[in-house]
Amino acid sequence: MSDFNHLPMTGGNTYNDNCGQQTLIMESSLPLFDDIKLGEIVDYGCSQGLNSVAMMQRILGRMAPSSTASLVFEDLPSNEFSSLIRLLPGLSANNPDLKLYPSLVPRSFYESVVAPQSVDVGFTSSTIHWLKKIPILKPANETVAEYYEKRTLRNAPAAREDFREFLSLRGQEIKKGGHLIIACFGSFTDEEIKIYKDALIIRHRCLFQAAEVLGNKGRLPSRAVARINMPIYDRSEKEFLGGIEELKDTWVMEKYYRKMIPHPAYHKFLKKCELAGTNEEAKAKAAKTYASDLMDWLVAVMGDMIKNWWIESGVEQDEVEDIYAEFLSTAKDLLYKEGPAGAEIPVMYTRLRRA
Ligand SMILES: C[S@@+](CC[C@H](N)C(=O)[O-])C[C@H]1O[C@@H](n2cnc3c(N)ncnc32)[C@H](O)[C@@H]1O
Repeated sequence: MSDFNHLPMTGGNTYNDNCGQQTLIMESSLPLFDDIKLGEIVDYGCSQGLNSVAMMQRILGRMAPSSTASLVFEDLPSNEFSSLIRLLPGLSANNPDLKLYPSLVPRSFYESVVAPQSVDVGFTSSTIHWLKKIPILKPANETVAEYYEKRTLRNAPAAREDFREFLSLRGQEIKKGGHLIIACFGSFTDEEIKIYKDALIIRHRCLFQAAEVLGNKGRLPSRAVARINMPIYDRSEKEFLGGIEELKDTWVMEKYYRKMIPHPAYHKFLKKCELAGTNEEAKAKAAKTYASDLMDWLVAVMGDMIKNWWIESGVEQDEVEDIYAEFLSTAKDLLYKEGPAGAEIPVMYTRLRRA
């Protein structure tokens, strides 16, 4: 069992079916493509392709007809590239006369992905909060709540090193004068937590706590409970900007903004509450659906990882689906009881020019 994170999003097109919030994140990055040279474009962490292909379609729409572009879709070797391949015919939807050369690269973005100095535009959205390695597992003497409290501090050095490595590698691949566009999950400031609650962390913690509930009932071995360990780190704005500053000889920051991106289910929930008026039962039903949508969103990312970790921890293959169903319903219930809050994610956007 390697300590590198090698597990992809949930298969069977599940990620594509549940990535509405990432779509909104990607769409808010599109102004950063204005006025830059396109040609060879790489999407680092393209996943099953729904947002990646949509991004490419939008930016290719403004290229001169009959010009040429080379499009590279990169993700982990275990990524479900077959879902993406089905979407490739739509690439030229907005500009049918373009000559397009798509290719797929199954390799970690913590390695070199393409030849040196070959890329005009690198893009990455909702990706670089994924750490290179699996962080330390929950020690047996810590509760989930204690583990979560210590998690940010524990993972900060690895996240800093991973960001430096990502930026250095892209610095080798992107041509001088070329661009790197990043949309990166951020952490809430202390002030924002009071308004939004820490919605993303709450979702993750409820998932972990659901495993703890199953562990306490004897449904999951404690080794399996400790493996629900998301290899992600949400950087503060200071860490993000500081990481870019560390490589200031390589990257010049041309643009930067930070935006709150809501989950699409949030507006549906608010609308239902408005329609419910004083009907508390209807409001509770709307809150349950909302909590359930948020958990489905999370397991569209984490579901296959969790099952894999359980099997590696000794859960029998033929029991996994049953335990998983109970686990997911417990997690939804916990999130509903906690109150899933606004479900916004702070996202940091930047456009860097290769010096
Ligand atoms: C939340 S998805 C975002 C996908 C897509 N960019 C979007 O906006 O919908 C995160 C993606 O990052 C990929 N990823 C995580 N670690 C990676 C790594 N080390 N190398 C390449 N891709 C990685 C995952 O496999 C996943 O497809």
